[in-house]
Amino acid sequence: MAQRGCACRKAPPAAFRGEGAGGRDQAARQKRGVDFSVRVTFIDSSGVARTIEATAGMSVMEAALAHHIPEVESDCGGSCTCAMCHVIVDEAWFGKFATASKNEASLLSLLEVLKPNSRLSCQLKLSAQMDGLIVHTLDPNAGA
Ligand code: FES
Repeated sequence: MAQRGCACRKAPPAAFRGEGAGGRDQAARQKRGVDFSVRVTFIDSSGVARTIEATAGMSVMEAALAHHIPEVESDCGGSCTCAMCHVIVDEAWFGKFATASKNEASLLSLLEVLKPNSRLSCQLKLSAQMDGLIVHTLDPNAGA
C-alpha cells in the first residue's frame, strides 16, 4: 500500500522534539532517580573543602577521581579489594547508605585508621537523595 503525502511531513525524530537527551525522556529518567546531578563535598585532611557535581549512579570514588579530588585513590577500579578509596562519611549522611557488605567490612577492618563512619567510597553509590553529601578524606600517609 502506497503512503500518501510526502515523507518530509512525518513527525520529526524524538531527538528533534526535545524528547531525546532532554524533554520528556530526561524528565522520566530524573523521576527514576538517574541522570541527576549530585553535589558532593570532600573535606581533605587539612580541612580544605571541595564541592563537585557528580551524576547519580556513580560511586563516590568515581566522582572523586573524575574531579581529581586528592586523598582518594583506587588500585582496583572499584572492585573492593584495595581500600585506597577509604573515606569518612559525615555523620549526618552515614545512615543514608546501605550498610557495608561483608567484603567491604572485612577490608575496612584491615585498615590502620578506622572510624565508626569509615567506608570504601567505591561502594557508595550516589543517588538524587545524596545531593549535598559530605565526606572526609584521609592523608594516605597517615598511619604509615
Ligand atoms: S577502589 Fe579499591 S577498594 Fe575501593
